[in-house]
Amino acid sequence: MEIKGKELEILISESEIKEKVKELAKQISKDFKGKELLVVGILKGSFIFLADLVRELEGKVFIDFMQVSSYHTEMESFGEVIFVKELTTDIKDKNVLIVDDIIDTGKTLKALVEALSLREPKILKTCVLLDKKERREVDYDADYTGFIIPDKFVVGYGLDWAEEGRTLKDIYYVKV
Ligand code: IMP
Ligand code: MG
Repeated sequence: MEIKGKELEILISESEIKEKVKELAKQISKDFKGKELLVVGILKGSFIFLADLVRELEGKVFIDFMQVSSYHTEMESFGEVIFVKELTTDIKDKNVLIVDDIIDTGKTLKALVEALSLREPKILKTCVLLDKKERREVDYDADYTGFIIPDKFVVGYGLDWAEEGRTLKDIYYVKV
């Protein structure tokens, strides 16, 4: 498979993702047992992960979305985080789980957590499917992490390269 003339190599298969999503959902359901949970998906990359994750969660789950822009150009992501779509829900006193596809430099999630904390949720936790740990530029780790992956650009399962590759069922890295 190719995107923009670059070859894709499989990194994580659909079945490995499925298993991991179940594992994450089990842990989250346990930690939030008996509590209502508001899951906040960060558009667009998280939408497939979120759809699979929330269907594995037990208990009462509500969904909302935010979209942030971090001035992505091609394969680079920079620090400036701008909210381009706001929540439609008031999160004060709610149990909130932010769900994103991947944590890379950590700037996006850190900025989101700082901004949403000011709205005084009861609990605010974060969940990512992928973590490029070695790329971290700020001191932040998600509360729930699926896979730690090497410093390679990945696509599929919601993740894109300039809007391409989101609908692939497995996760691939772009060969350079
Ligand atoms: P951070 O602020 O550097 O942690 O960037 C997080 C965001 O960058 C994610 O929500 C993704 O949208 C994007 N991103 C980082 N690495 C990749 C990648 O390998 N593939 C696709 N998107 C990525
Ligand atoms: Mg994203």
